[in-house]
Amino acid sequence: MSDVTGPRQREHPSPADLAIDVHCHLLPRVDDGAKNDDEAVECVHALADMGYRGSVLTPHIAYRSFRGKEDDLRVRFEKFRSRVHDRLPDDYRLALGAEYMLDDIFMDRLYRSPEKLLTFGPDRGVILLELPRSFAPPFLDQVLRDLSLMGVVPVLAHIERYTYAFLDEGADLRRWRESGALLQVNVGAFAGSFGDGCRSAAVTCWERGWIDLLGTDLHAASSLKSIKDGWNAIRALEPGPGHGLSGQSRLLSRSSP
Ligand SMILES: [Fe+2]
Repeated sequence: MSDVTGPRQREHPSPADLAIDVHCHLLPRVDDGAKNDDEAVECVHALADMGYRGSVLTPHIAYRSFRGKEDDLRVRFEKFRSRVHDRLPDDYRLALGAEYMLDDIFMDRLYRSPEKLLTFGPDRGVILLELPRSFAPPFLDQVLRDLSLMGVVPVLAHIERYTYAFLDEGADLRRWRESGALLQVNVGAFAGSFGDGCRSAAVTCWERGWIDLLGTDLHAASSLKSIKDGWNAIRALEPGPGHGLSGQSRLLSRSSP
């Protein structure tokens, strides 16, 4: 993506700045995301109308809920892309990743078959990780170090949900970031779509400059309004320090997803 504009540090970001959304559930019929091709295509057109130019599809992989296999997801993605190719906006890019819960499945992949991991981005060197709601796994710091040694950049999904990470002035968030992780906040959180607590946490991240990436985490056409409301809420905020584009630029400025 050599045409991605660099960060505009003292202005509000927009979908066009972000270019590629790195977190959504638009691969149909594999998790709690899009129900069918029609819904996925509708969502892509709406995102393109907002200014996005591509999406990384990140179906859940989690031991307790969606135990999708990477090989199967790759096949499903290629079939989906070929089925809908003629129905997508011109030049809209699709890529496949996954949203890995940091659980037994992910640990097995990371340490026994890392070649299977659904990474994306430049040199396929980015991975999206989800943390448990109520605690940070004690092995998280080691995982972040090991991913770094492997040359993989971990993106921590919707950090506004992890209330424990905001204790002690966000000490965990800041340490993870210093370990090389990128912190992602959901756009819809700014509009209160996930509750007042998440909205407040998202605004805190904005004000402190802790956001490396903004993601849609879009599951369904019914949530498109939440994305638009989120962008409106962001535009109403005072411009903050950094506000989320440094990570996006770093990930996307060198090649396609
Ligand atoms: Fe997600």
